[in-house]
Amino acid sequence: KRVVVLISGSGSNLQALINAQNTPSLPNARIVRVFSNRKAAFGLTRAAQATPPIPTAYLALQPYLKSHPGKTRDDYDAEVARILLADNPDLIILAGWMHILGDGFLELTDGRKPLNEGEPTRGVVPVINLHPALPGAFDGANAIERAHEAFQKGEITRAGVMVHRVVKDVDRGEPLVVKEVPLEKGDSLEAFEERVHETEHEIIVQGAAKVLAESK
Ligand code: GRF
Repeated sequence: KRVVVLISGSGSNLQALINAQNTPSLPNARIVRVFSNRKAAFGLTRAAQATPPIPTAYLALQPYLKSHPGKTRDDYDAEVARILLADNPDLIILAGWMHILGDGFLELTDGRKPLNEGEPTRGVVPVINLHPALPGAFDGANAIERAHEAFQKGEITRAGVMVHRVVKDVDRGEPLVVKEVPLEKGDSLEAFEERVHETEHEIIVQGAAKVLAESK
């Protein structure tokens, strides 16, 4: 099964996926492309250093808008979808990807719109996302810090991470894997963050395996 992974930063979750390829935790999956919206993302280096090396691509939003006057963020999202779909993926994974993909992207990956006018539409390519919070808890950015602060204030009693299907509403798709992360009073943010990332590295692989097992 052909997998494409989107990253924006260090790519530690990508690394977990690379390490799990063709092991019992992620059987018959091959990462055929790593895509980033940031040229400096270390995840691109991880892809290049994998054995065998994984092809990479990158397209940043601001340079795209500058070099395409009149184009919008939606056009950028559609362009990203076109780049990814050219690899005929069976699964698209957002792992440490820090850009909200709007309907310009999803209408193409969902097969609701053909890649080019007049063409037939394609099948649905599932898109999943890793989010370091429990369903409905801290949607959006900085979820780890926000959960840590809320816990210290006694506003929440549990924390965790999830992998969910990507839908239009940010971090609101059907959860595929949810795992609690231990959090104690007085835990430093660093200690909590360390546990969050360890748990992310487990569930990103479980989430990918679960969706790939669904597809024929
Ligand atoms: C992770 O917490 C991920 O959920 C968030 O960015 C952090 C780093 O991810 N979006 P990675 O190391 O780049 O995979």
